[in-house]
Amino acid sequence: AVEQENEVGTMTFTTWLLKQEMKGNVTNEMAVVLNSIALACKQISSLVTRAGLQGMTGLAGEQNVQGEDQKKLDVISNDIFSDCLKNCGRTGTIASEEEEVPIAVEQTFSGDYVVCFDPLDGSSNIDAGISVGSIFGIFEPNEECNLEGKNIVTESTDGDDLDISQQESLLHCCRPGKDLLSAGYVMYSSSTVLVLSVGDGVYGFTLDTLIGDFVLSHNNIKIPESGKIYSFNEGNMKGWSDGLKNYMDFVKDGEKPYSSRYIGSLVGDFHRTMLYGGVYGYPGDVRNKNGKLRLLYECAPMSFLAEQAGGKGSTGTCRVLDIVPDQVHQRCPLFIGSTKEVEIIEKFLS
Ligand code: AHG
Ligand code: MN
Ligand code: MN
Ligand code: MN
Repeated sequence: AVEQENEVGTMTFTTWLLKQEMKGNVTNEMAVVLNSIALACKQISSLVTRAGLQGMTGLAGEQNVQGEDQKKLDVISNDIFSDCLKNCGRTGTIASEEEEVPIAVEQTFSGDYVVCFDPLDGSSNIDAGISVGSIFGIFEPNEECNLEGKNIVTESTDGDDLDISQQESLLHCCRPGKDLLSAGYVMYSSSTVLVLSVGDGVYGFTLDTLIGDFVLSHNNIKIPESGKIYSFNEGNMKGWSDGLKNYMDFVKDGEKPYSSRYIGSLVGDFHRTMLYGGVYGYPGDVRNKNGKLRLLYECAPMSFLAEQAGGKGSTGTCRVLDIVPDQVHQRCPLFIGSTKEVEIIEKFLS
């Protein structure tokens, strides 16, 4: 423990990764993939900081497959993330919020890891200089290569059948969160912070811009067991279930009501929840029964981190990490954070 204390503020992410390799927590290939993600996020961090100076704010003029208007930075961040992952030679398949179907990487050399990512999260906040982030989850390649008997959608949005390579890529990605080997996020805020788990606790690294490296700053993060902060977009309340409306009364009731905090960037809202405790929620409503957040590159990686930090990630009725996706961009309701707070919501919803 004393040794770990001393490492805070001095140990770089690369050194930490080498130690994880020695402990048997990551393979050499996985360390290379994680390093390439750190590299991508350093570049995105620099772009986010300078966006207002370099004409990088505003819309790109296209929509992604989910019908969202892409920001210029959504597109650029996706290119950076994809290029870094492809060039590292250890990634076999990538799936991104900004790409309709997962891509088989031709440049792969070994490892063939599967990476699902949200290159820029909270991009509606970007032009106001408010915190945004990136989110990722990493699987081992799927050994099964047969779609038969699987409940996976094999048509593109235009109704065309996907080709065999695209179908195989889908199979590599459509996996439950409990199969994740590693997950993490990077928050671009007053400082840039990388938070990740390789299945042995959660660690945070702050970008030291003077040396250009992530340095260990948060040792073995644990989410407080309870916390009186709730983080929901209450503007949507009209469409919520009676159980959830009752919960909204509950948090405002009592001698000391809960505090409300909502940025509208999952990464920022979740990072605060990790450190201060409380609960973040994006429920389903009458129009969208699965809410807005996407399972593979938002809900599952965050739930993996929450569990690794002693917290909980739930849809309100089941564990997020147990859901087996049938589509890459599938959505799911999310209630995440302090174990006791998530359990209170589950009671209200049952
Ligand atoms: P993205 O910017 O990657 O599309 O994600 C947006 C998500 C998430 O960041 C945030 O928590 C949520 O949308 C906010 O949604 P509302 O604006 O509906 O509250
Ligand atoms: Mn988006
Ligand atoms: Mn997002
Ligand atoms: Mn995004």
